[in-house]
Amino acid sequence: MTTLPVRLDRSRPGPLGAQLSAQIRELVTTGTLGRGDRLPSSRALAAELAVSRSVPEQAYEQLVAEGWLETRHGAGTFVASGSTRRTPAPRRRGVTAPAELVRLDAGTPWIDPRHAAGWRRAWRDVSTARPPRGYDDPRGIPELRAALADRLARTRGVVVDPDEVVVTSGTTDGLRHVLTALRPGPVGLEDPGYRAAVETVRGLGREVRDLPAAATISDLTGLVAAYVTPAHQHPLGRVMPAADRLTLLEAARAEDTILVEDDYDSEFRYDVAPVPALATLDPARVAYLGTAAKSVAPSLRLGWLVAPPDLLDRVNARRLVTHDGAPWPVQRAFLSLLRDGYVDKVVRTARRVYAERAPRVAAALAPYAELAGPLAGMYSTWLLPQADAVRAQEAARRAGFEVNLLSGYCRSARLTGLVVGFGGVTDEELDAALAALVSALR
Ligand SMILES: Cc1ncc(COP(=O)(O)O)c(C=O)c1O
Repeated sequence: MTTLPVRLDRSRPGPLGAQLSAQIRELVTTGTLGRGDRLPSSRALAAELAVSRSVPEQAYEQLVAEGWLETRHGAGTFVASGSTRRTPAPRRRGVTAPAELVRLDAGTPWIDPRHAAGWRRAWRDVSTARPPRGYDDPRGIPELRAALADRLARTRGVVVDPDEVVVTSGTTDGLRHVLTALRPGPVGLEDPGYRAAVETVRGLGREVRDLPAAATISDLTGLVAAYVTPAHQHPLGRVMPAADRLTLLEAARAEDTILVEDDYDSEFRYDVAPVPALATLDPARVAYLGTAAKSVAPSLRLGWLVAPPDLLDRVNARRLVTHDGAPWPVQRAFLSLLRDGYVDKVVRTARRVYAERAPRVAAALAPYAELAGPLAGMYSTWLLPQADAVRAQEAARRAGFEVNLLSGYCRSARLTGLVVGFGGVTDEELDAALAALVSALR
């Protein structure tokens, strides 16, 4: 009986059956497993992988449905005769196949798999709840808005009435709603800055103007809105100093500019308490955006918006007509996750993991590069000459990892270096990626 070259990683989000089916599919498409090859029985494979039998069963079932495998009655499971056999892909040295690059991106959080029972409970709760008969309140489920208002006051000092909270499908969705409700005109965005925000603004046909991410923003001339990340500038990591916040607010009042505060990962400070939100200084000037992408999962597509009343009224009036609310099942699940204490738990445990990983990244890279901001969140940004950054990126790729160049976040800014995420990987992967980066920089 052949043993399949597969390996399951329990720290990854998502079902093990899906991980297994992806790896077997790759073995077939790359020709490692050929037409007619027999697969181990689900019982044997389950024993080898130390998982329940349902994991290989689900993977086999999925691949049979897709046509990669076939079952022959009484004989077992085989690579389907109709599946193509390509020339085996050359193996990259030092990497055990099957391999796509493991991404050390700035946006992927670490979720403690020990809390999986809470996640399942929330979705069971959704399955037994009755959905609204028609389109729901465009602002979001009232109980969820109340729970979010509580949480915002507790964790971010943003004191709001539940009716001032709107549930969105994430940060970019919230940004889109805000901009759609504002008069025509250009929007300022930090440079370097969040690429999804830049694309969202451009996608709405608005001109993007560059605001300095690494300096005081004092000029908002002609801008309808300015998008900023004051708690943890993305991607430099800088915290906007108090004096700069006051200068920014003053400039916004002078130009009647709405400030859009993207508060994406402020809960992940491990040295000091999170810096209070900009919105606490002038709620009439700031549209505040929060997201579940960093605390629970980017793929959940859930976030929240708190905005000045007249702006919020326009957002809600439009959403009432367009039915552009966040999906009800996702809202309902997030409500259960909040009530169950799941969100607080995953944030707490992830914060501990980042507090341990961030200094490890710093210890490896500090001899060769300059840290751009304080250690916080699930990534750190390192300034170094572009040639060195590219050499390090290439070395990481050869070892099986994708690390982003800082230049990729710049429009007119000329900053160079690496943005190293450490949330969405295992400890072993992080160590291997750091070793590759260091080998190139040394
Ligand atoms: C700066 C910034 N804001 C927000 C988000 C999350 O966006 P969304 O809620 O649309 O997933 C990310 C994710 O990577 C981010 O880097």
